[in-house]
Amino acid sequence: MKPTALTFPRGFVWGAGTSAYQIEGAAKEDGRGPSIWDGFAPAHGDTGEVACDHYHRYREDVALMKELGLAAYRFSVAWPRVQPDGRGAINTGGLDFYDRLTDELLAAGIAPYVTLYHWDLPRALEDDGGWTSRDTAWRFADYARAVHARLGDRVDTWLTVNEPFVQASLGYGIGLHAPGRLSPAETVFAVGHHMLLAHGLGVRALRAEGARRIGIPLNLSPVLTPDQVADPSATLPEPDAHAVEQVDAVLNRQFLDAVLRGKYPAGLPEAHVRPGDLEIISEPIDVLGVNYYAPTIVRAEPGAPPNPAYPGVEGVRFSDSHVTATAMGWPIVPNGLSLLLRQLARRYPGVELVVAENGAAFSDVVRSGAVADADRTAFLDEHLRAVRHAIADGVPCKGYFVWSLMDNFEWAEGYRRTFGIVHVDFDTQLRTVKDSGRWYREVIRHNGLPVSRPKRPTLETVAARAGVSRATVSRVVNGENSVSPEIREAVLHAVNQLGYVPNAAARNLVTQRTETVALVLATSPERDDAGIGTLVMTAGQAIQAAGKRITLLLADTEHNRSTLVSHVESGHVDGVLLAPHDGADPLISRLYGTAVPMVLLGKPAFSSLVPCVDIDNAGGGALATRHLMETGRTRIAMVCGPMEQARVRDRLAGYREAMREAGLQPFLTVGEHSQRSGAEAVRRLLDDDPGVQAVFASSDVMALGVLRAVREAGRDDVAVVGFGDVQAAAYAGLSTISERAGDQALTLARLLLSRLEGRPVSSALLSAQLIVRESSRA
Ligand code: FCB
Repeated sequence: MKPTALTFPRGFVWGAGTSAYQIEGAAKEDGRGPSIWDGFAPAHGDTGEVACDHYHRYREDVALMKELGLAAYRFSVAWPRVQPDGRGAINTGGLDFYDRLTDELLAAGIAPYVTLYHWDLPRALEDDGGWTSRDTAWRFADYARAVHARLGDRVDTWLTVNEPFVQASLGYGIGLHAPGRLSPAETVFAVGHHMLLAHGLGVRALRAEGARRIGIPLNLSPVLTPDQVADPSATLPEPDAHAVEQVDAVLNRQFLDAVLRGKYPAGLPEAHVRPGDLEIISEPIDVLGVNYYAPTIVRAEPGAPPNPAYPGVEGVRFSDSHVTATAMGWPIVPNGLSLLLRQLARRYPGVELVVAENGAAFSDVVRSGAVADADRTAFLDEHLRAVRHAIADGVPCKGYFVWSLMDNFEWAEGYRRTFGIVHVDFDTQLRTVKDSGRWYREVIRHNGLPVSRPKRPTLETVAARAGVSRATVSRVVNGENSVSPEIREAVLHAVNQLGYVPNAAARNLVTQRTETVALVLATSPERDDAGIGTLVMTAGQAIQAAGKRITLLLADTEHNRSTLVSHVESGHVDGVLLAPHDGADPLISRLYGTAVPMVLLGKPAFSSLVPCVDIDNAGGGALATRHLMETGRTRIAMVCGPMEQARVRDRLAGYREAMREAGLQPFLTVGEHSQRSGAEAVRRLLDDDPGVQAVFASSDVMALGVLRAVREAGRDDVAVVGFGDVQAAAYAGLSTISERAGDQALTLARLLLSRLEGRPVSSALLSAQLIVRESSRA
């Protein structure tokens, strides 16, 4: 690399980051208490019990950092090591570790950047309410003081609370992260607020102790429509602008405005905010940590299912844009970073910026002691170019920390998603610097990027290295046997040396198809057996009619889920039909990460780039309600549940909409997905309001209970409509909205077949159909 490369300002800080629970291991050593992740992780797959064993190998790891030339290292202190119960007595044994680590870093000429809290709350505090309790914020300030007392003489930069949005939303909102709670929107906002209070109180405590440089690392993501991803200057129609605005407020401005302007964006719940809180939260800081991975892509879509990770946001489709993505399924948009940095400098002037996390997960392969991770190198190169552009435009960005120094425990994804520039073999704990790490070392050495972009090995490079034609390389990769053993060996040697990985498109061209499609079924107690039967039969026949085989894979246990992901990943199938379980099923992103074409049954609860097939649930809810009106009823109630299901919330939205249009008052009772619950709910209803004339139930199972209870109560005049058209509905004479299981299954298979032919496909929403039987003629 030429020193006259694309240079960065003198003193620009080159770093890498990690966090305690993700790398340390030694979960029970030297008096460490349990954190919320210790209980949560084992129940969901992998754990951080050993992780990278960094607690014992920190010397070796610091030596690696030195070899890479890092100027700074961002790590986090585990609160449960310092205060095993989260409060009171300090465990000096725990602090000793960070003391040794700090000394080791300083001796290697590496500046420690200390994050005080990276999601590992002491379990004892969670038992007292965790971040739903205000008190936790004061406990954090005490803890911050204790860490500063020990390390403050040697540490300059202090980062308080990592990414409160993620912990509030994924940990307390949808239960994908520890502590695994499912809570309503108000609680999620209260959690975010308490984490910000902890930040503010922490800043005050650290400042009082003489800390020199204090900041907060936030996950920040420019919110863009698919059009803006292609062209950031695209002007937006009003509904899209409103969608962007809503998401930006919850995801970014909730935290930025509070910390840097001392107020919350208009429209967010504030019942938990007490006088004086925002003064604490907006205590001046020196540096804002920008954790950037991808933009958030949205567009306006009336009636779109709410995304539970973004409480309060309505009428927004978390959308697909057809850009390439990392193994996490996160779209790769380097411009998003320059856009974000410029936006921050404009909206919040006067605070220094540091990119505190940026990086990518890709599937790495170790070959002959090396990892040729060309995709990661390209990712880092493009993002650093973006940082450089922003700096050239006057943005005060002072440093960049790759996430992550090494492969580690990636929270909900366990060890299958690797972000490191150093590979870790979790069986032997052997560290191997990846090609991206070597490349980063050169960037640091030159304080800049090479002018030409890093080259990916292509079919041509392999051909040139092996001294054969492209067609021959293709034949070898294809496994064709028309190639002599010597030539085959030469080609494979070149493939290994260069780390050539055919990309998804190339792979389609050069590898043989398996002509097999997987139908993956995640079990869920609410799924009705007849529906599964229809799905298997109909989709199976359509796939077979297209000359392909179908394999049924059950995603019931964690073990089976992992096995089936490796099965798909290792190329045993050409495509996947996935029926995920209700809620935010992580299987979607795990399978998406394999880059094998996939189509989903049912709109996912969580934003996703995968096309899906669903019934128009909101339309069905409205259809049922209007039908009941047409029979002359006006007192129409809804029996609704379970509320965490996106489809149930959509059905409710349709009911509400139809009632509102007709100027009628909606009223509902919430229940569970069972006949008994339906019966109980309607009994309560009839008690409260004997004038009820009709009931729309969000599922047939509940509706059957409703039907029974109204008949038992001698109220044959009450009309009932359900949803689903399960077999029993026909016997019981229940009017219902058909989910059109067969049509959905057929569409699902057709969409996948089109994808396999290389045609772009988009999601399909089938219209709901009303089936009238005697119950609503009553
Ligand atoms: C961030 C977290 C970090 C890591 C990366 C991939 O949200 O702060 O610990 O999981 O994402």
